[in-house]
Amino acid sequence: MIKNIQAVRGMKDYLPTNTYIWQVIENILKKTLNSYGYKEIRLPIIEKISLYKRAIGNVTDIVEKEMYTFTDRNGDVLTLRPEGTAGCIRAGIEHGFLYNQEQRLWYMGPMFRHERPQKGRYRQFNQIGVEVFGLKGPDIDVELIMMNIRLWKELGISNHVRLEINSLGSLNSCNNYRNVLIKFLEKNKNVLDENCKNRMYINPMRILDSKNPIIKNLIHDAPKINDYLDDDSRIHFNKFCKLLNELDIRYKINPYLVRGLDYYNRTVIEWIADSLGSQSTICGGGRYDNLVKQLGGYCTPAIGFALGIERIVCLVEGVNPYFKATNTFNIDVYIIPYNEDAQLMAINLSEKLRDAMPQFKFVTNFGGGNLKKQIKRAVKWQASIIIILNTINLNEIIVKDLRNGKQQKISKSQIINLLHTLLK
Ligand code: HAM
Repeated sequence: MIKNIQAVRGMKDYLPTNTYIWQVIENILKKTLNSYGYKEIRLPIIEKISLYKRAIGNVTDIVEKEMYTFTDRNGDVLTLRPEGTAGCIRAGIEHGFLYNQEQRLWYMGPMFRHERPQKGRYRQFNQIGVEVFGLKGPDIDVELIMMNIRLWKELGISNHVRLEINSLGSLNSCNNYRNVLIKFLEKNKNVLDENCKNRMYINPMRILDSKNPIIKNLIHDAPKINDYLDDDSRIHFNKFCKLLNELDIRYKINPYLVRGLDYYNRTVIEWIADSLGSQSTICGGGRYDNLVKQLGGYCTPAIGFALGIERIVCLVEGVNPYFKATNTFNIDVYIIPYNEDAQLMAINLSEKLRDAMPQFKFVTNFGGGNLKKQIKRAVKWQASIIIILNTINLNEIIVKDLRNGKQQKISKSQIINLLHTLLK
């Protein structure tokens, strides 16, 4: 027997039973981002590998172990995008929309990381990301948090998420801290596991968010980055916190929050939903004021975040089952040709109704079947109303409301008015 071909590990199918809830959630997200005046940008899924090496950092997990990289027919080494920030900047520099300008952008789409798949962690996953260019004050940092809060409110998950923040300071202050941290780790080398020992000189900051309980314990006594901030970064962070306080926003300063990509400076944030288990970060981001220059553009302050849509959908469904129940795909009207001769009439009427009532969903029965069979199909579609067409009396239409069983015979010319009344 021929073996079935299955989907690639870690890459999910989204079946029609799920896609409607995705559409509802995506529409809420898009509507909210638009309401802040942010504009959509659409970017390629494939970029040159050099972009990610330069942007994310050579010694990060993403670049070292997780990228899907291949050589195309021209010999170019290309990568399936693991995230959207680098591509957004590449486009900004290429099309000249960053220099001396303010931009507030969002994007949505699949990202690819070759991680070990588990619940909430996939090799192809979807993000909605936001990137702001040209604004350096902490007020925009706060707007992004306000935007997050509004998104959570619209999705009904506000009571199930919490905010952690930190500041990484400037490039210089971060380097100073790095050296202090390395000294601390050297002193405690005997406690470190192999993974941490490997990272100690290459990327010591990543040890701060180790999941190993022994390392976590050790890190409690480690020097804290907040004590090594340069003056400007300290002022920025204090203002950011002050604004959050004044707006009554609850947050926790987590001195060990460093993020997994190398491009951040100053503000970093993560939103966590504890009920999701080990993959509980639903949104992460921060400032990356040096990255545009690093990628060849002019010095441009920037900040952004991205949220993982799979994790958001899982959270919404878990904490708010009502949301799913009220957002299932059902149709309004199912059109039944009583016999084969009425099929053309049914097609014509469906089109006429779609023209007149574009806000409703109409499904026409195809493939024949007796009346009982066709009504069964209408019920399966969860139709509210069925219309039965009969060639014996061309002008007479039977309309049945499946929600209360009421049936009436009307003339063709009355159908639109009647549907408006029944469906309002
Ligand atoms: P990130 O923290 O790598 O940041 O990813 C953002 C979010 O994407 C995570 O919080 C998580 O919800 C989701 N995510 C990441 N990896 C996976 C996965 N394997 N499976 C499912 N969901 C996942 C970035 O990507 C930055 N570009 C965010 C940013 C934008 N920073 C500034 N601007």
